[in-house]
Amino acid sequence: MNETIKNILNRKSINIFQDKPIAKEDLDLLLKAAMAAPTGSDLRPWRFIVVTDKKMLIKISEALKSTEKIKGNSAAILICGDSSKSERFWTFDCSLAAENIMIAAQSIGIGSHWISIRPNKERTDNIKEIFNFPDSIKPLCAIALGYSDQDTVPKDKFDYANVHWEKW
Ligand SMILES: Cc1cc2nc3c(=O)[nH]c(=O)nc-3n(C[C@H](O)[C@H](O)[C@H](O)COP(=O)(O)O)c2cc1C
Repeated sequence: MNETIKNILNRKSINIFQDKPIAKEDLDLLLKAAMAAPTGSDLRPWRFIVVTDKKMLIKISEALKSTEKIKGNSAAILICGDSSKSERFWTFDCSLAAENIMIAAQSIGIGSHWISIRPNKERTDNIKEIFNFPDSIKPLCAIALGYSDQDTVPKDKFDYANVHWEKW
């Protein structure tokens, strides 16, 4: 099995992270991976806020009601779409960027976890209040990042019952 497939199959959502910072070069690499994603009409409406400040990470966690579940991430990348750039496609484009971040993170030994912002109104309002976005900037999710401090195996979600060949 090649390394790309291994990284896809081994990615899992991490809940508990080590107290260990992520190097700036690694965060830059994840952003590079994010912006290599396909994007509708090549409009690239993604916008990213990289947060490494511990107090801010806790504030975001509280705003997203994730403190009970996700402990100690060293960074978060908030993924937002500029709806004025691509009203039709920004959610798709940002989701693809998010997946690229998570797979790239897996490939360099960094764990990740998607925390929803959209479509939850309370979480969206909380994040808007923290960052004071212009109206066109829509937060989609926060990707919590860090070095895993848990020993779990990836869920096996493969189910052939979901697959149809040639016809429904
Ligand atoms: C659209 C989306 C929304 C999610 N929202 C949350 C969330 O708000 N909180 C959370 O703890 N996990 C969230 N997750 C992570 C999922 O719970 C997780 O991906 C799922 O349980 C499958 O586990 P795995 O990622 O380890 O394969 C979200 C994932 C996706 C794709």
